[in-house]
Order: sequence, then structure tokens, then C-alpha cells
Amino acid sequence: MRTTGTADKTPDFAAIRAREARLFLPVVKRLPVALLRGEGSRVFDVAGRSYLDLTAGWGVTAIGHCHPKLVAAIAGQAAQLMQTTNVFYTLPQLELCEALDAATPPALSRSFFVNSGSEAVEGALKLAHRATGRRKFVSTEGAFHGRTLGALQVIGQPEKRAPYRELLPEPVIVPFDDTPTAVAAIDEDTAAVIVEPVQGEGGVNVPRAGYLAALRKRAHAVGALLIFDEVQTGIGRTGRMFAFEHEDVTPDVLTLGKGLGGGFPIAAFLCSEAVAKTVAPGDHGGTYVGNPLACAAACATLEVLREEDLVARAATLGERLASRLRRFAAEHPEHATGQRGRGLLQGLLLADATRAAALPERALEAGVLVNVTAGTVLRLFPALNIPEAELFEGVETLLELVREG
Ligand SMILES: Cc1ncc(COP(=O)(O)O)c(C=O)c1O
Repeated sequence: MRTTGTADKTPDFAAIRAREARLFLPVVKRLPVALLRGEGSRVFDVAGRSYLDLTAGWGVTAIGHCHPKLVAAIAGQAAQLMQTTNVFYTLPQLELCEALDAATPPALSRSFFVNSGSEAVEGALKLAHRATGRRKFVSTEGAFHGRTLGALQVIGQPEKRAPYRELLPEPVIVPFDDTPTAVAAIDEDTAAVIVEPVQGEGGVNVPRAGYLAALRKRAHAVGALLIFDEVQTGIGRTGRMFAFEHEDVTPDVLTLGKGLGGGFPIAAFLCSEAVAKTVAPGDHGGTYVGNPLACAAACATLEVLREEDLVARAATLGERLASRLRRFAAEHPEHATGQRGRGLLQGLLLADATRAAALPERALEAGVLVNVTAGTVLRLFPALNIPEAELFEGVETLLELVREG
């Protein structure tokens, strides 16, 4: 583990953990480290230890931690206007609408800004109900769409749904990447089919070519909407601005979050003009929706992506990462059974679930932040501007840990 000086008067980790123990609602499994600051793809704990962040703050700090342009934009906007409600026009919100309009196909012209991916999914589901008058949603096994009750309704991960089953309508959940079953499930009662173009939390699952197009065709045929949840895959993560561009299939509704604000909480749902015509003032809202500070952060993030050509970088660096993981799996089939992913959303399929569960904590001790999802998938989703040397330094550390067993 690298050390970069000591933190000044910051309490040590043991003291922080003890103070928090009786106060924090224990619904989150924690790792034993308290982070103090971040810079690029490194974060530093309260003891001054440095870690390589291969999770990018959970897919969020797409332009690295505390990018100077993002920090400046937030500071500038904070000094100017931090909050108003959405009954007023603001320039940051308008500029973000324009930036997303320029980045998306013409069919996704309307935007609305919320605070989290879950809220974006809620908005998308509400839109689909308003546009169709229907209440049936089709989702996929392994899907993750958020933790609020509406989003939980369409989640395809039974262990997260189960405790709240009594509060939720019975979902129609079909296997991911199974076209005939999905086509059969999407019918004239369906408000929408919601799908991640690449499942993130579900294990970095990339569907076969033609799957998304088949959903598009079927939804259109029965008057249902197609919602792409790109909270995790959007904003360049997969090597295209949006993952749906890999297949050239445009949804009726698109959700974005995570990387959109570069670290500042903001998410969005976008829709076509036809869908937008079915709603009216009063149908949706919220105190912080379209918050100028959040919108300024998102505008700055999109500008950095463009200036530093980070979407193309995610594609090329992602391919190098994928090929390293593929080679590892080929050379060590006893430890890894394969690789899958797109751009800088990559998964190494680990052979042993018990060892996989222990890996994030072992990696932490070795100075790397990493995630294992869906039981056995080592998920790498670093910042899109991570220096190549740092990425592979972290990856080799992880592969060494996997080899050690
Ligand atoms: C595809 C997808 N949708 C929705 C969400 C929920 O976003 P949030 O945690 O910001 O509410 C996530 C979060 O991981 C996600 O990956």
C-alpha cells in the first residue's frame, strides 16, 4: 500500500468507526476504510494511504475524482445560484438540455433532471404509464434499476425484492438476452419493457447482437414503450456515448445517472416528443429537480468528456483491458472462466464464489478499490481518463490476488 504523507488533524479509522457504530443505519455492508479525498483515479484514506479506484466511485467519477474543471464549475455555480425550484427557468438546466439533445438521436429530444438513477427510473415508469394507460412492466432477470419502490418493482434480483414483496406489484421478469420469451411477454397490456443494454450490477452481461432490436420491434408492434436504463452504461462508459449506439437501436425513454454529474448527484430521463405530448404540468416534479448546481456539474462533465475525447478512449483502453482479462482467463481456467464487457465496463468471471467474496477486502489491503458483483464477477469500471499505467498496475495487483487464491 502506498502512503502519501499523513492527514493532519483527521481522526483515525478506529475512532471514526466507533463514533459511527451506534448512529448509522446498518443497511450497508462496509469495507474497513474511511476515505478523505480523491484525485484522478486515486483516493486517500484518513491515514494518508493511497488506493487505486477501479470502481470510479461506483461508476460515477467518469472523469476522475475532483477533476479541476468540474470543481471550478461547481464552485462558480455555488457562488452564483445553488438552488431554486423548477418553476423558474435557469441557464444551467437549459444548457444541460441542449447538451443532451446534441448527444442523443433526434428521437430523444425531451429531458428531465432528477437526483438519482432510481428516481430517473421512477420517472420513466410513470411516463410509460401515462403514455400508454397500461400498468404492466416487463423486465429482465438480473436487472438492477434502483432501490426506491417503483424501481424495485422492475428489479430482476429476487434477494433485493423479497423483503418488500408485499408492497410491490408482481413483476413480469423474463430471462435476459432471451428474445422469444421477451417477445411473448410483451403484449397489448404492456406499458413498457425496461432493460439495461449491458447489465451492470447483474454481472456485466452483454446481450447478443439483435436482442435490443427485437425488443424495439416488439414494443413498437404492441404499442408498448421501450425504456433503456443507461444509468450505468451511459455517458461513455461502454466506449460509445450511450450503449444503445453499439446496436443502433433508439429507445422511447432513456435513463441516465452516475457518470452524468462526474460525482455530483444528478440523473435524467429523456423521451421522445410523442411521449412528452402525453404528460402535462403537475405530472411530475420535486424540490431539487433541475437543481442549477447539479446541472452545472453535468454540463462541465460533458465538456470534459468532449475536450479529452474520453468516449473514444473508453473504447480503446477498454479493448486492451478486455484482452488482458481474456488472456488471464485462458491461462488460468482454474481461477477465471472468462471475460465479458464493453469499453470500460469489464467483468472477469471468477471460478470460486467464496474467494470472489473475499476479493474486495484483500484488494483493499493491496491498495486497490474493486467490486465483485453477481457473486463471481470481478467488475472493473474505472474512470474513463484513468492513466493506462495506473489501470494496469491495479489490474495486475488484482490478477495476482486471484492467482494466489
Ligand atoms: C442500471 C441502473 N439503474 C439504476 C440504478 C440506480 O441508481 P441510483 O443508485 O443512483 O439510485 C443503478 C445503480 O447502480 C443502475 O446501475
